[in-house]
Amino acid sequence: MPIVFRPAHADDLQRMQELVVGSINDLTERHGFGSMASVGRPDFQSFSLKDDPDGLWIAEADGEIVGSALSWVCGDLWFLAELFVSPGRQGSGIGNRLLAHTFDHARKAGATNKSLITFTFNVVSQGLYIRHGMLPRLPIYLFSGTRATLKPPRQGDELHCVAIEPSASHLDTLAQLDLSALGVSREKHHRYLLGDATMKGVFLKQHGDCVGYAYVSANGHVGPLAVAEARHMGAAFRTALSQAATDGAENLSAFLPGTSEAPGIALEHGMRIRFPMVLVSTREFGDWTRYLPRNPGFM
Ligand SMILES: CC(C)(COP(=O)(O)OP(=O)(O)OC[C@H]1O[C@@H](n2cnc3c(N)ncnc32)[C@H](O)[C@@H]1OP(=O)(O)O)[C@@H](O)C(=O)NCCC(=O)NCCS
Repeated sequence: MPIVFRPAHADDLQRMQELVVGSINDLTERHGFGSMASVGRPDFQSFSLKDDPDGLWIAEADGEIVGSALSWVCGDLWFLAELFVSPGRQGSGIGNRLLAHTFDHARKAGATNKSLITFTFNVVSQGLYIRHGMLPRLPIYLFSGTRATLKPPRQGDELHCVAIEPSASHLDTLAQLDLSALGVSREKHHRYLLGDATMKGVFLKQHGDCVGYAYVSANGHVGPLAVAEARHMGAAFRTALSQAATDGAENLSAFLPGTSEAPGIALEHGMRIRFPMVLVSTREFGDWTRYLPRNPGFM
């Protein structure tokens, strides 16, 4: 049966999610990490499809989705949020062909840098990306823990939290922080996060000055988080963890770049490394001492 490659439609998104979750859990279980993902609503995929349909592709065999890809673009950065092939079909060229379609998206959008986050223990994905010029740059760890082992905030270390509104001035402040930390504005992605009722976005203030922002979700996940200067990362991450606990989350988690102060703080708070990941890109970008991604797809 020939494989058909075509742009994704809205009614493909739930089945794409099921494929992605099945492919992730197959990989993480094969490597002894247990299952990682569960099927949820494809909200970010739906937002991305409406925002830029050129970034979503599927591979289909006899009406069944056997592979899918999702990429987004902000400024000159193209980011591959998802590339997954069903376990029984891997190693037969489907990933390569989906990647070629999403590279067309990068070309059409005028992106000059390509990046993504993948599993450090997946030699196939890393081989594929290196072959296409996206080189490993940065270790990123998914940490998790519980509220029970969280230490109380240190005296004077906690930043003041002020709710972010989807107003022009707040979006401009967010764009400036992202431009300085990542080199691109993520304004459209902040609009998405601020429209999600399970997320809380706050500006982090010290003596009245805005030193960064953080998002904390109702399930205790911290990120994205950005600070204007690396020296604020410790206080920002501690504040975000304590905000998650104050909001009632029993479990805590975050994706932490290995080069930032945050992994050491996570360990101090009894959190543990669950999954090792790696950011790859065609060229260096971002100051990873100042930014914590939300997850491998949103970045
Ligand atoms: C990663 C994934 C999308 C690739 O899709 P695929 O259809 O299996 O990949 P292809 O068959 O098109 O290509 C695999 C490439 O990896 C290469 N490869 C395989 N094992 C390798 C190894 N040990 N070292 C280096 N390269 C390797 C193959 O040679 C091939 O490259 P080539 O075509 O240039 O020879 C798919 O395997 C998958 O879904 N894996 C599980 C989930 C995952 O990790 N997704 C990536 C998340 S970002």
